[in-house]
Amino acid sequence: MSTIDRDDHVEQPPTPKEKLIIFDTTLRDGEQSPGATLNMDEKLEIARQLSRLGVDVCEAGFPIASPGDFEAVRRIAAEVGPLTEGRKSGQPMTIAGLARANQADIDRAYEAVKVAPRHRIHTFLATSDIHLKHKLKIDREECVEQVIRAVTHARSLCDDIEFSPEDAGRSDPQFLTVVLGEAIKAGATTINIPDTVGYTTPDEFGWLINYLIAHTPGGDQVIWSTHCHNDLGLATANTLAGVRNGARQVEVTLNGIGERAGNTSLEEVVMAIHTRPQNFGVETDIDTTQLIRTSRMVSAYTGMPIQPNKAIVGANAFAHEAGIHQDGMLKHHTTYEIMRPETVGLSASALVLGKHSGRHAFRIRLDELGYSDLSDDALNQAFARFKRIADKKKVVTDADIEAIITDEFYQPREIWKLNNLHVSCGDQISATATVSLTDPHGVEQIDAAIGTGPVDAVYKAINRIVQVSNVLTEFVVQAVTEGIDAIGEVTIRIQPENGQGFTTNPQTGAQIVRTYSGHGASTDIIVASARAYMSALNKMLSAREETSSTIQQKAS
Ligand code: KIV
Ligand code: ZN
Repeated sequence: MSTIDRDDHVEQPPTPKEKLIIFDTTLRDGEQSPGATLNMDEKLEIARQLSRLGVDVCEAGFPIASPGDFEAVRRIAAEVGPLTEGRKSGQPMTIAGLARANQADIDRAYEAVKVAPRHRIHTFLATSDIHLKHKLKIDREECVEQVIRAVTHARSLCDDIEFSPEDAGRSDPQFLTVVLGEAIKAGATTINIPDTVGYTTPDEFGWLINYLIAHTPGGDQVIWSTHCHNDLGLATANTLAGVRNGARQVEVTLNGIGERAGNTSLEEVVMAIHTRPQNFGVETDIDTTQLIRTSRMVSAYTGMPIQPNKAIVGANAFAHEAGIHQDGMLKHHTTYEIMRPETVGLSASALVLGKHSGRHAFRIRLDELGYSDLSDDALNQAFARFKRIADKKKVVTDADIEAIITDEFYQPREIWKLNNLHVSCGDQISATATVSLTDPHGVEQIDAAIGTGPVDAVYKAINRIVQVSNVLTEFVVQAVTEGIDAIGEVTIRIQPENGQGFTTNPQTGAQIVRTYSGHGASTDIIVASARAYMSALNKMLSAREETSSTIQQKAS
């Protein structure tokens, strides 16, 4: 019987493969997810990791949004912009700043990014009739004029200009060719097509990219880009349809975080292209072995847990539970596995770590997991923590090691430090907790409290010492691995009380209450909960310090 090559069904894209530019907007659109607030140090750390991952363009923020956002973009441009170490392309990452289509925004974005050896201004204006009529209250003619003015001004400052017609997914395609033709004439070098509200379907979005490339005057002179939101769960499919139709840049975020249902997930697009290269005819410079590490860092810092069944980076993405599947896997991994776990940064090692494992074995495992750049001090710290866990758990898995690293290193600056806690609880007594903290001046402070349960008692005792009023808005406990001795990871979110901590959305003018997340890990979930709470409190306090130092700088 003859066989059919399934790839014969797919129209073959051009060879040799063309480069696909990976534009990461985790620090801009991703940070706009409700509650995903990041502080300066976290943004810098994530930007460094994006560089290590091999991202081509990092949209570092929206500089006009606030002095803090400006400073974060400026520091990323200055400190991460020049890095080339470990990057496959050998080129530094381009740092982009977002700007609405007006002179003040564009000037501010340029001021923030200009120190990076490669920098870009990304300016946008809505083009759908819905946005023109209800949001901007301008007609199509005024829209075109504003785009020309904005792009011309941006191009007078810098050579790398991206223009996005916001809500392109619901804009009139013929009108888009007019606006985009003018943007190209005015100097835009990348044209990005946002499906801002995640409304399109893959056929439609692929068609739109194809149509715009073919019908926009100057369309062959620029890079075409996709920017899809996931409201219908179609962001990855739409983005890949865009690539098949000629887009050579994709705008994505780690773990797919972003407004509402999020943005297109970087790891899904990259691994689809990596696993099915014959379908796309493009290649990326992403070091896929850094995917898990980057994903975990983003999850820890934003306080947005990853759903266990999330493609590529979820805890179950490479787990085989059903008997038939396990049997198949034992016979040959290709039966149920389309990607090798080590390709995305999960260890392939069969070596089991336990309490007798030495520092050398631990270091090797960290290298395999993509943490080869830890300093000796950091290694010692992680090893000490590993030993404490190995005393309690027979086998320390890769997931446990990832949890240790996340808990030890992806934490905000410690303004208050948790020393220890003691809890007594049961079904016949009130839960009581005694907590010892070190204050910002290095002095030990101890207090105790009664609560409805042990976690409540610990949080109340901490509140009596730190005295920063806040509301707990979310509390999630997840077991890292199976078994009664599993490490528990706690993620929490808090909001400042009494209206402190409001910021203004520059696009809508609406007041937003900032949310601060924290995470902690331990084999004892009460300890993990306390660590998570301290992490969120420290983040809130350091944001307050950042805000008051910006106000002082402005006043002086
Ligand atoms: O979704 C969107 O339209 C955006 C633009 C600013 C590119 O994020
Ligand atoms: Zn967006």
